[in-house]
Amino acid sequence: MTASLPTAAPVGIFDSGLGGLSVLRHIHAQLPHEHLLYFADSGFAPYGDKPEAIVIERVLTIADYLLGQGAKALVVACNTATVAAVRELRERHPALPIVGVEPGLKPAAALSKTGKVGVLATERTLRGAKFLALRDQIHQSTGAEFLLQPCIGLVDLIETGDLDSQNTRAMLARYIWPLLDHGADTLVLGCTHYPLVRTAISHVLAAYGKPDVALVDTGDAVARQLARLLAAGALLRDPDDSGTAALSGYTSAGAAALTAAFNSLLGIDPPVLEVDLPLPAGWLNSPHI
Ligand code: DGL
Repeated sequence: MTASLPTAAPVGIFDSGLGGLSVLRHIHAQLPHEHLLYFADSGFAPYGDKPEAIVIERVLTIADYLLGQGAKALVVACNTATVAAVRELRERHPALPIVGVEPGLKPAAALSKTGKVGVLATERTLRGAKFLALRDQIHQSTGAEFLLQPCIGLVDLIETGDLDSQNTRAMLARYIWPLLDHGADTLVLGCTHYPLVRTAISHVLAAYGKPDVALVDTGDAVARQLARLLAAGALLRDPDDSGTAALSGYTSAGAAALTAAFNSLLGIDPPVLEVDLPLPAGWLNSPHI
Protein backbone atom coordinates (compact mmCIF):
# COMPACT_ATOMS: atom_id res chain seq x y z
CA MET A 1 0.00 0.00 0.00
CA THR A 2 1.71 3.15 -1.25
CA ALA A 3 0.08 5.42 1.33
CA SER A 4 1.82 3.66 4.20
CA LEU A 5 5.31 4.00 2.68
CA PRO A 6 7.42 6.72 4.27
CA THR A 7 8.01 8.28 0.85
CA ALA A 8 4.32 9.26 0.75
CA ALA A 9 4.51 10.89 4.19
CA PRO A 10 4.56 14.70 4.42
CA VAL A 11 7.45 17.05 5.18
CA GLY A 12 6.85 19.15 8.32
CA ILE A 13 7.90 22.81 8.10
CA PHE A 14 7.60 25.26 10.99
CA ASP A 15 8.37 28.78 12.08
CA SER A 16 7.43 31.12 14.91
CA GLY A 17 4.76 32.45 12.56
CA LEU A 18 4.31 33.44 8.94
CA GLY A 19 7.99 33.85 8.08
CA GLY A 20 8.54 30.22 7.15
CA LEU A 21 6.22 30.75 4.19
CA SER A 22 9.21 32.45 2.51
CA VAL A 23 10.95 29.04 2.76
CA LEU A 24 7.88 26.94 1.98
CA ARG A 25 7.57 28.85 -1.30
CA HIS A 26 10.96 27.45 -2.44
CA ILE A 27 10.24 23.94 -1.13
CA HIS A 28 6.95 23.81 -3.00
CA ALA A 29 8.64 25.03 -6.20
CA GLN A 30 11.55 22.55 -5.99
CA LEU A 31 9.64 19.55 -4.63
CA PRO A 32 6.16 19.91 -6.15
CA HIS A 33 5.28 16.24 -5.51
CA GLU A 34 5.83 16.35 -1.76
CA HIS A 35 2.96 16.56 0.73
CA LEU A 36 3.70 19.45 3.11
CA LEU A 37 2.58 20.41 6.62
CA TYR A 38 3.18 24.01 7.72
CA PHE A 39 3.02 24.99 11.39
CA ALA A 40 2.91 28.73 12.21
CA ASP A 41 3.48 29.36 15.91
CA SER A 42 1.90 32.80 15.64
CA GLY A 43 0.25 32.45 19.06
CA PHE A 44 3.71 32.28 20.67
CA ALA A 45 5.66 34.63 18.33
CA PRO A 46 8.08 36.26 18.37
CA TYR A 47 10.84 33.87 19.44
CA GLY A 48 13.56 36.50 19.03
CA ASP A 49 13.16 38.10 22.43
CA LYS A 50 12.45 34.89 24.39
CA PRO A 51 14.99 32.99 26.52
CA GLU A 52 16.86 30.23 24.68
CA ALA A 53 15.58 27.46 26.98
CA ILE A 54 11.99 28.48 26.21
CA VAL A 55 12.59 28.42 22.45
CA ILE A 56 14.22 24.98 22.71
CA GLU A 57 11.26 23.56 24.63
CA ARG A 58 8.80 25.06 22.17
CA VAL A 59 10.67 23.71 19.14
CA LEU A 60 10.71 20.18 20.60
CA THR A 61 6.96 20.39 21.26
CA ILE A 62 6.16 21.53 17.71
CA ALA A 63 8.45 18.86 16.26
CA ASP A 64 6.64 16.19 18.29
CA TYR A 65 3.31 17.50 17.01
CA LEU A 66 4.40 17.36 13.36
CA LEU A 67 5.91 13.90 13.80
CA GLY A 68 2.59 12.88 15.33
CA GLN A 69 1.00 14.01 12.03
CA GLY A 70 3.32 11.57 10.24
CA ALA A 71 6.14 13.88 9.06
CA LYS A 72 9.07 12.03 7.45
CA ALA A 73 11.41 15.05 7.69
CA LEU A 74 11.44 18.45 9.39
CA VAL A 75 12.44 21.91 8.20
CA VAL A 76 13.08 24.44 10.95
CA ALA A 77 12.14 27.43 8.77
CA CYS A 78 13.24 29.91 11.41
CA ASN A 79 16.76 31.24 12.02
CA THR A 80 16.05 31.94 15.68
CA ALA A 81 14.75 28.43 16.35
CA THR A 82 17.63 26.89 14.40
CA VAL A 83 20.32 28.78 16.29
CA ALA A 84 18.69 27.95 19.63
CA ALA A 85 17.43 24.42 19.17
CA VAL A 86 18.51 22.48 16.08
CA ARG A 87 21.24 20.64 18.01
CA GLU A 88 18.75 19.41 20.65
CA LEU A 89 16.27 18.50 17.91
CA ARG A 90 18.89 16.39 16.10
CA GLU A 91 19.95 14.75 19.36
CA ARG A 92 16.37 13.79 20.10
CA HIS A 93 15.68 12.49 16.57
CA PRO A 94 19.04 11.20 15.27
CA ALA A 95 17.58 9.23 12.34
CA LEU A 96 15.27 11.98 11.09
CA PRO A 97 16.24 14.26 8.17
CA ILE A 98 16.24 17.77 9.71
CA VAL A 99 17.07 20.96 7.81
CA GLY A 100 17.73 24.21 9.66
CA VAL A 101 18.08 27.77 8.39
CA GLU A 102 21.03 30.01 9.01
CA PRO A 103 21.81 33.51 7.79
CA GLY A 104 23.58 33.46 4.41
CA LEU A 105 26.86 35.00 5.54
CA LYS A 106 29.01 33.05 3.09
CA PRO A 107 27.11 33.97 -0.10
CA ALA A 108 26.85 37.55 1.15
CA ALA A 109 30.62 37.78 1.73
CA ALA A 110 31.16 36.48 -1.82
CA LEU A 111 28.80 39.11 -3.26
CA SER A 112 30.08 42.12 -1.33
CA LYS A 113 32.54 44.47 -3.06
CA THR A 114 33.08 46.74 -0.05
CA GLY A 115 33.71 43.73 2.22
CA LYS A 116 31.02 45.09 4.55
CA VAL A 117 27.86 43.07 5.00
CA GLY A 118 24.85 44.12 7.07
CA VAL A 119 23.05 41.29 8.88
CA LEU A 120 19.40 41.84 9.80
CA ALA A 121 18.08 39.25 12.27
CA THR A 122 16.44 38.83 15.65
CA GLU A 123 18.29 39.58 18.87
CA ARG A 124 18.30 35.89 19.80
CA THR A 125 19.84 34.83 16.48
CA LEU A 126 22.58 37.45 16.67
CA ARG A 127 23.48 36.48 20.25
CA GLY A 128 23.44 32.72 19.60
CA ALA A 129 26.74 30.82 19.89
CA LYS A 130 26.02 28.97 16.63
CA PHE A 131 25.60 32.25 14.73
CA LEU A 132 28.66 33.90 16.29
CA ALA A 133 30.81 30.87 15.41
CA LEU A 134 29.59 31.09 11.80
CA ARG A 135 30.31 34.84 11.72
CA ASP A 136 33.87 34.31 13.00
CA GLN A 137 34.53 31.46 10.59
CA ILE A 138 33.34 33.39 7.51
CA HIS A 139 35.19 36.52 8.66
CA GLN A 140 38.41 34.53 8.98
CA SER A 141 38.06 32.83 5.62
CA THR A 142 36.91 35.85 3.59
CA GLY A 143 37.94 38.95 5.56
CA ALA A 144 34.37 40.26 5.30
CA GLU A 145 33.16 42.49 8.11
CA PHE A 146 29.66 41.78 9.40
CA LEU A 147 27.59 44.61 10.84
CA LEU A 148 24.93 43.05 13.06
CA GLN A 149 21.53 44.73 13.34
CA PRO A 150 18.81 43.27 15.56
CA CYS A 151 15.43 44.29 14.14
CA ILE A 152 13.34 44.52 17.30
CA GLY A 153 9.60 44.72 16.59
CA LEU A 154 9.82 43.83 12.89
CA VAL A 155 8.50 40.26 13.26
CA ASP A 156 5.52 41.57 15.28
CA LEU A 157 4.73 44.06 12.52
CA ILE A 158 4.94 41.39 9.80
CA GLU A 159 2.75 39.05 11.87
CA THR A 160 0.00 41.69 11.74
CA GLY A 161 0.17 41.47 7.94
CA ASP A 162 1.71 44.94 7.66
CA LEU A 163 4.21 44.30 4.86
CA ASP A 164 4.64 47.65 3.14
CA SER A 165 3.09 50.54 5.07
CA GLN A 166 4.79 53.86 5.90
CA ASN A 167 5.23 52.45 9.39
CA THR A 168 7.07 49.35 8.12
CA ARG A 169 9.25 51.39 5.79
CA ALA A 170 10.12 53.80 8.62
CA MET A 171 11.17 50.92 10.89
CA LEU A 172 13.24 49.35 8.11
CA ALA A 173 14.94 52.66 7.34
CA ARG A 174 15.89 53.02 11.02
CA TYR A 175 17.61 49.63 10.90
CA ILE A 176 19.06 49.68 7.38
CA TRP A 177 20.30 53.23 6.78
CA PRO A 178 22.98 53.13 9.53
CA LEU A 179 24.37 49.96 7.89
CA LEU A 180 24.58 51.79 4.56
CA ASP A 181 26.23 54.76 6.32
CA HIS A 182 28.93 52.30 7.41
CA GLY A 183 29.53 51.07 3.86
CA ALA A 184 27.46 47.87 3.68
CA ASP A 185 26.67 47.00 0.04
CA THR A 186 25.03 43.64 0.84
CA LEU A 187 22.31 42.82 3.35
CA VAL A 188 21.61 39.38 4.79
CA LEU A 189 17.94 38.76 5.57
CA GLY A 190 18.72 36.60 8.60
CA CYS A 191 15.13 35.97 9.63
CA THR A 192 12.66 34.11 7.45
CA HIS A 193 10.04 36.81 8.04
CA TYR A 194 12.16 39.47 6.32
CA PRO A 195 11.88 38.25 2.69
CA LEU A 196 8.15 38.96 3.12
CA VAL A 197 8.99 42.70 3.31
CA ARG A 198 11.37 42.74 0.33
CA THR A 199 9.26 45.34 -1.47
CA ALA A 200 9.43 47.70 1.52
CA ILE A 201 13.19 47.07 1.82
CA SER A 202 13.65 47.97 -1.86
CA HIS A 203 11.82 51.27 -1.27
CA VAL A 204 14.02 52.03 1.72
CA LEU A 205 17.21 51.30 -0.27
CA ALA A 206 16.01 53.44 -3.18
CA ALA A 207 15.10 56.29 -0.83
CA TYR A 208 18.68 56.23 0.50
CA GLY A 209 19.98 56.30 -3.07
CA LYS A 210 21.34 52.71 -3.08
CA PRO A 211 18.79 50.58 -4.94
CA ASP A 212 21.49 48.10 -5.97
CA VAL A 213 22.36 46.81 -2.51
CA ALA A 214 22.21 43.00 -2.74
CA LEU A 215 19.73 41.10 -0.54
CA VAL A 216 20.60 37.55 0.52
CA ASP A 217 18.19 34.99 1.90
CA THR A 218 18.62 31.24 2.07
CA GLY A 219 15.14 29.86 1.25
CA ASP A 220 16.34 28.44 -2.06
CA ALA A 221 19.41 26.77 -0.48
CA VAL A 222 17.25 25.27 2.28
CA ALA A 223 14.92 23.69 -0.29
CA ARG A 224 17.93 22.25 -2.14
CA GLN A 225 19.33 20.78 1.08
CA LEU A 226 15.93 19.22 1.86
CA ALA A 227 15.84 17.67 -1.63
CA ARG A 228 19.36 16.26 -1.08
CA LEU A 229 18.48 14.75 2.30
CA LEU A 230 15.24 13.20 1.03
CA ALA A 231 17.05 11.73 -1.96
CA ALA A 232 19.88 10.37 0.22
CA GLY A 233 17.35 8.70 2.53
CA ALA A 234 15.33 7.32 -0.42
CA LEU A 235 12.43 9.39 0.94
CA LEU A 236 11.39 11.38 -2.12
CA ARG A 237 7.72 10.86 -2.96
CA ASP A 238 7.17 8.97 -6.20
CA PRO A 239 5.80 11.49 -8.76
CA ASP A 240 3.64 8.67 -10.13
CA ASP A 241 1.82 8.26 -6.80
CA SER A 242 -1.84 8.91 -7.27
CA GLY A 243 -3.26 12.21 -6.08
CA THR A 244 -1.79 15.70 -6.18
CA ALA A 245 0.53 16.86 -3.43
CA ALA A 246 -1.36 18.24 -0.45
CA LEU A 247 -0.53 21.14 1.86
CA SER A 248 -2.06 21.54 5.31
CA GLY A 249 -1.63 24.55 7.59
CA TYR A 250 -1.56 24.53 11.40
CA THR A 251 -1.41 27.56 13.65
CA SER A 252 -1.30 28.27 17.36
CA ALA A 253 -3.25 31.52 16.75
CA GLY A 254 -6.48 32.21 14.84
CA ALA A 255 -6.77 30.37 11.51
CA ALA A 256 -7.76 33.55 9.64
CA ALA A 257 -4.27 35.10 9.69
CA LEU A 258 -2.54 32.00 8.27
CA THR A 259 -5.31 31.51 5.70
CA ALA A 260 -4.92 35.15 4.61
CA ALA A 261 -1.13 34.78 4.41
CA PHE A 262 -1.34 31.61 2.30
CA ASN A 263 -3.69 33.47 0.05
CA SER A 264 -1.87 36.77 -0.33
CA LEU A 265 1.72 35.45 -0.30
CA LEU A 266 1.38 32.17 -2.17
CA GLY A 267 -1.99 32.45 -3.91
CA ILE A 268 -3.25 29.19 -2.38
CA ASP A 269 -6.08 28.22 -0.06
CA PRO A 270 -5.13 25.08 1.91
CA PRO A 271 -7.04 23.85 4.97
CA VAL A 272 -5.83 25.48 8.21
CA LEU A 273 -6.31 23.98 11.66
CA GLU A 274 -5.95 25.85 14.96
CA VAL A 275 -3.81 23.84 17.37
CA ASP A 276 -3.50 24.34 21.09
CA LEU A 277 -0.04 23.15 22.17
CA PRO A 278 1.03 23.12 25.83
CA LEU A 279 3.14 26.19 26.64
CA PRO A 280 6.75 25.59 27.79
CA ALA A 281 6.80 24.89 31.52
CA GLY A 282 9.57 27.46 32.00
CA TRP A 283 7.43 30.12 30.34
CA LEU A 284 4.39 29.42 32.49
CA ASN A 285 6.57 29.81 35.59
CA SER A 286 8.25 33.00 34.37
CA PRO A 287 7.17 36.57 35.21
CA HIS A 288 6.17 37.16 31.54
CA ILE A 289 2.70 35.72 32.12
N1 DGL B 1 11.15 33.76 11.27
C1 DGL B 1 11.89 33.77 12.51
C2 DGL B 1 13.39 33.75 12.22
O1 DGL B 1 13.79 33.38 11.13
C3 DGL B 1 11.40 34.89 13.38
C4 DGL B 1 11.82 34.74 14.79
C5 DGL B 1 10.96 35.42 15.80
O2 DGL B 1 9.84 34.97 15.99
O3 DGL B 1 11.43 36.36 16.44
O4 DGL B 1 14.21 34.07 13.04
